[in-house]
Amino acid sequence: MTRRLAVLISGRGSNLQSIIDAVAAGALDATIAVVVSNKKDAAGLTRAAEAGIEALHLNPKDYSGRGAYDQAIVDVLHQRRVDLVCLAGFMRLVGKPLLEAFPRRILNVHPSLLPSFPGLDAQRQAVEHGVRVSGATVHFVTAELDGGPIILQTAVPLLDRDDADSLATRILAEEHRLYPEAIRIVLDGRWRIDGRRVVRRD
Ligand code: GAR
Repeated sequence: MTRRLAVLISGRGSNLQSIIDAVAAGALDATIAVVVSNKKDAAGLTRAAEAGIEALHLNPKDYSGRGAYDQAIVDVLHQRRVDLVCLAGFMRLVGKPLLEAFPRRILNVHPSLLPSFPGLDAQRQAVEHGVRVSGATVHFVTAELDGGPIILQTAVPLLDRDDADSLATRILAEEHRLYPEAIRIVLDGRWRIDGRRVVRRD
């Protein structure tokens, strides 16, 4: 049966677009049931609507606290019978209600080689640290910020002329390739989690 994805965003939505495109191309056997943004003006909401996908803005200010907000997201996702939740530039911490409702069923893409440079502005952190290699990571979401088991990573070299923006552009191109592939792997189901490791079966 075709699995149902939710994509949670806060902004531009270029990773959302890569998932939309992978589904449209038949590279990902899934359907995007709903896109949820915590920001009203997120460009990704327009991308979703243009692709004929339900696009919802849930405003955190309309809820009494983080738990209530996360529960509202859970309710929306349950109503749409979502199987897998994909965070794509969703700039909020995921709380207990969501983690408990979708154990091992929430993914995130992050613009660094985790565990280096978690949190905000990962590309700037990499440039300021002076590393020679950074990259992109897709991982399972746990209560630890950017800390869950890693599904896929790819390296991106830092060039002498790089600033945070130029590095971010090259990393983003890799994210767009990596994220649909990681979703495909997770949906395929031939993996297990062993400690911190995602171990795949042939
Ligand atoms: C992406 O680079 C993603 O990795 C990053 O935000 C950007 C969203 O772009 N996410 C994080 O930093 C999460 N910690 P997009 O809206 O165009 O997909």
